[in-house]
Amino acid sequence: MRKLFIAGNWKMNKTMASAKEFANVLKSNMMHDEVELAVIAPYTQLEILVSALYNRPVMVGAQNVFQETSGAYTGEISIEMLKEIDVDCCVIGHSERRQYFNETDEIVNKKLKLLLENDIRPIMCVGENLEVRKAGNAISHVKSQLEKGLMDINSDDVMNTTIAYEPIWAIGTGETASPEQAEEICSEIRNFLSEKYGEMVAEEVIIQYGGSVKPENAEEILRKPNIDGALIGGASLDVDMFMDIYDKAYFTKKH
Ligand code: PGA
Repeated sequence: MRKLFIAGNWKMNKTMASAKEFANVLKSNMMHDEVELAVIAPYTQLEILVSALYNRPVMVGAQNVFQETSGAYTGEISIEMLKEIDVDCCVIGHSERRQYFNETDEIVNKKLKLLLENDIRPIMCVGENLEVRKAGNAISHVKSQLEKGLMDINSDDVMNTTIAYEPIWAIGTGETASPEQAEEICSEIRNFLSEKYGEMVAEEVIIQYGGSVKPENAEEILRKPNIDGALIGGASLDVDMFMDIYDKAYFTKKH
C-alpha cells in the first residue's frame, strides 16, 4: 500500500547554518514509519543536510537537476554531482522552473529518465494556471503534461516516481485548492496512470498535492483518497509548522 509522503520545498531560502539548525530540530521530533518525510533544499545546503540527517528516516532532496550529464552548461548541476552528495530525491518540472527557466515537458522527461537511471526518486510536478482552469481545461492540461513527461517510462519506473499536482494559482498565493478540487485532479491523474500502466501500477504511485498547504488545511486535504501527501513550500520553512503537518498526516493516515 502507498505511504503518505510529506516533502518540504525550501525554494531559494535558508543558509547552511539555518539548514543545520532545522535538521537538528527535526531530529528531535518523533518519526512515524508510516509517513515518509523529505526536505528539498538548495544545492549548497544538501551536503550539510545529508550528514546532519544521516541514519534518520528523513530524505534529502534537490530542487532540480540538469538534463545533460556533463559539459559546457555554466551554472548547472549534473546527476553525477547529486549522486555524489547522496541525495534521495529530486523535484523536476516545478512550475517556477517551467515559468522562469523554460522547463518544458520534454526537458522534464529527460530529467526523469536520468533520475530513474540513477536511483534518485523523482518528484514530478504538474499543474495548471488560473487561465487554463477558468477555461475548464485543467484536466486535459495536466494529462498532457503527464503524457509528455512520462514518455517511454515503464511501469517499474513510474511506481518509483512521485507525482505532485500543484495548481499554479494556489502556489504561494495563500489560496488553496479546495480538497474537492485537489482530489478531482489527483484522481484523474490516477485514472490516467491506470489507463497507461494498469490499475495495479496506478495504485502504487504516490500523488502529492501542493499549493498553500499549511497546518490548518492539511488534514482535510490528506484525508482525500487519491492524495497521498503534500509538497509544501512556505509552511515548510518553519520546522514547527512542517512537523505539525507531518504529524497531522500520520493521524489522518488512510491505511
Ligand atoms: P507553497 O508552495 O506551499 O508556498 O504554496 C508549494 C510549492 O511550490 O511546492
